[in-house]
Amino acid sequence: MTTLGPFDVGPSLPEPLPESPFPIFKSWFDDAAERRITPNPNAMTLATATPEGIPSARVVLCKGIDPRSGSLTFYTNLESRKGVEIRENPVAAAVFHWDSLERQARLEGPLTRVTDAEADAYFATRAWESRIGAWASRQSQPLDSRETLLQQAADRILELDLDIAAAVRGDPVEIPRPPFWGGFRLLASRVELWVGGTGRLHDRAAWTRTLGRPSPGAWVGTRLQP
Ligand SMILES: Cc1cc2nc3c(=O)[nH]c(=O)nc-3n(C[C@H](O)[C@H](O)[C@H](O)COP(=O)(O)O)c2cc1C
Repeated sequence: MTTLGPFDVGPSLPEPLPESPFPIFKSWFDDAAERRITPNPNAMTLATATPEGIPSARVVLCKGIDPRSGSLTFYTNLESRKGVEIRENPVAAAVFHWDSLERQARLEGPLTRVTDAEADAYFATRAWESRIGAWASRQSQPLDSRETLLQQAADRILELDLDIAAAVRGDPVEIPRPPFWGGFRLLASRVELWVGGTGRLHDRAAWTRTLGRPSPGAWVGTRLQP
């Protein structure tokens, strides 16, 4: 909490700034989930770009944060618009906005594919409908009608020999991960945390680090004017 004379300008980031932004970022992410502030508190806007630098952005779900390495993971169709952009230009920026908590977190850095084993493990946790949906959709490709998509889903159910009655009953059913579906890890080279304040006196800080091998350099944190 910070005050300006008799005014309380709201909560703030620690002073001095901590060495790494990740414990705070992770606590904000967990806080948003625990308080169920929105149906998808793990939603983030993910920006990618073509090699020519033409940007595109969309919402995806963050499926894990690893404070130790300073990274997050998300999953998608590898042949989608974002999938192709990432293949050709493997960097991204992600932004979370937890409006009712007056918090924003921004991350930037290179992307690498999660291992097949990791993607398989996550895919297996998804509802059977979502697993069939992943098989059925050629994400980002044109579609002549909604009917065609439903037909594609029905075709995949037949091809995969899925026992639909068992799936609907809630029995466990095996559906393999499509080869064109996987996950990415964004290894942060920059993280910015923002806390809303009264009178636009927000609190804002950015941490950067170099990502040289064998391990990343130390984070350097700087407060920024809002
Ligand atoms: C709340 C929400 C969560 C979403 N989660 C994902 C996700 O985790 N992965 C994904 O590929 N698309 C997700 N989408 C759909 C994407 O926003 C987007 O429509 C899709 O990935 C195609 O994007 P692209 O054509 O830029 O590749 C989500 C959309 C919303 C609104």
